[in-house]
Amino acid sequence: MSHLFQPYQLRDVHFKNRLVVSPMSQYRAEDGFANDWHMVHLGRFALGGAGLVFAEATAVEERGRRTPGDLGIWNDSQIKELKRITSFLETEGSVPGIQLAHAGRKASERRPWHNEQPLSDEDYELRSERGWEALAPSPLPYANGWPEPTEMSVGEIEDVIDAFGEAARRSKEAGFKVIEVYAAHGFLVHQFLSPLTNQRSDDWGGSDSNRRRFAIGVARSIRKHWPEKYPVIFRLSATDWIDGGIEIEDTIETAKCLSNEGVDMIDCSTGGIGGKDRPRRMVISQGFQVEFAKCIKEEARIATMAVGFLWDPQFCEGIVKNNEADMVALARELLDDPNWPLHAASQLECDQDYQLWPEESGWWLQKRGRLLQKLGLR
Ligand SMILES: Cc1cc2nc3c(=O)[nH]c(=O)nc-3n(C[C@H](O)[C@H](O)[C@H](O)COP(=O)(O)O)c2cc1C
Repeated sequence: MSHLFQPYQLRDVHFKNRLVVSPMSQYRAEDGFANDWHMVHLGRFALGGAGLVFAEATAVEERGRRTPGDLGIWNDSQIKELKRITSFLETEGSVPGIQLAHAGRKASERRPWHNEQPLSDEDYELRSERGWEALAPSPLPYANGWPEPTEMSVGEIEDVIDAFGEAARRSKEAGFKVIEVYAAHGFLVHQFLSPLTNQRSDDWGGSDSNRRRFAIGVARSIRKHWPEKYPVIFRLSATDWIDGGIEIEDTIETAKCLSNEGVDMIDCSTGGIGGKDRPRRMVISQGFQVEFAKCIKEEARIATMAVGFLWDPQFCEGIVKNNEADMVALARELLDDPNWPLHAASQLECDQDYQLWPEESGWWLQKRGRLLQKLGLR
């Protein structure tokens, strides 16, 4: 029996397998509202057999969007369209998850294919999109040529923490069953955690525990509004890959603190903090971040999700089998093949006859398979 296709449970939420659709921003929302694009983008992964399907980074505040096309959940009116999507995902057997996000100093950016730069007058001329003021723990620009973000006042910090709680309430009303906090890749929660971006001298910066206060505040605020029976996951950058930044030892401590606040799993990514220092060379190979998931699982005694440069079913099977992580998330491979989980099931010999496929396609594929076999063509 495949380990990757063993069911799994976090709190009261059951997953039919360990495969997760990693959050993938589409930059196709208007004023933060989801639309048919998001329905089709996420719906095809449910039809493709993933156990947990995450909606992309979804802004808890309008100014917390990374680009003008980010999805949002800062207003009750945004719930309705999201509910249509969660309802479809559940009907098709996948658990709907949402990634709650605030971009902090990474806000007010162009879409990646318009060349990852801050919005400027040119964007207004070309697309009628204006930039806005970005917030951060300290007034340090994201990269050369980026504007200086506004250092957050204590009142603003508390407001954003509250916004995460309100977003959790709306997520529940929208039918999501899992929340992931985007605390990686240089987004606001990560900016508070990393000494490279948090140079505050008040209670929200300085010592390790002060830098963790924001993440802990976010976890508490979410738990206040989010049902006990549903899990909360944090996506952390286990290392900044920069000397003087976050290292795995810091992340293990952060994971322990979050676990004490009712966080159930750490989704283990790395990097993305930005700034003037160049990251250490990462040796990129299949599953190069899995070692962090394994280490956090063992040292912080919390469930983990592995992610990053994964595509081979046998390799992913090994991650769960060897207890390196409890779940496995894929992004780009699923863009290439949304049916990857179903194909993986066949390769791992847990679905030889299209039994796991939706009947509407499985029935036909089964018949065609038998014919091909009879004719000796496969
Ligand atoms: C189109 C696209 C959009 C992404 N958007 C997000 C996002 O909204 N939130 C996030 O945490 N990571 C985001 N990522 C990163 C992925 O979730 C994932 O961690 C990364 O791509 C590595 O996994 P992969 O090698 O399987 O693609 C995005 C990646 C892609 C390809």
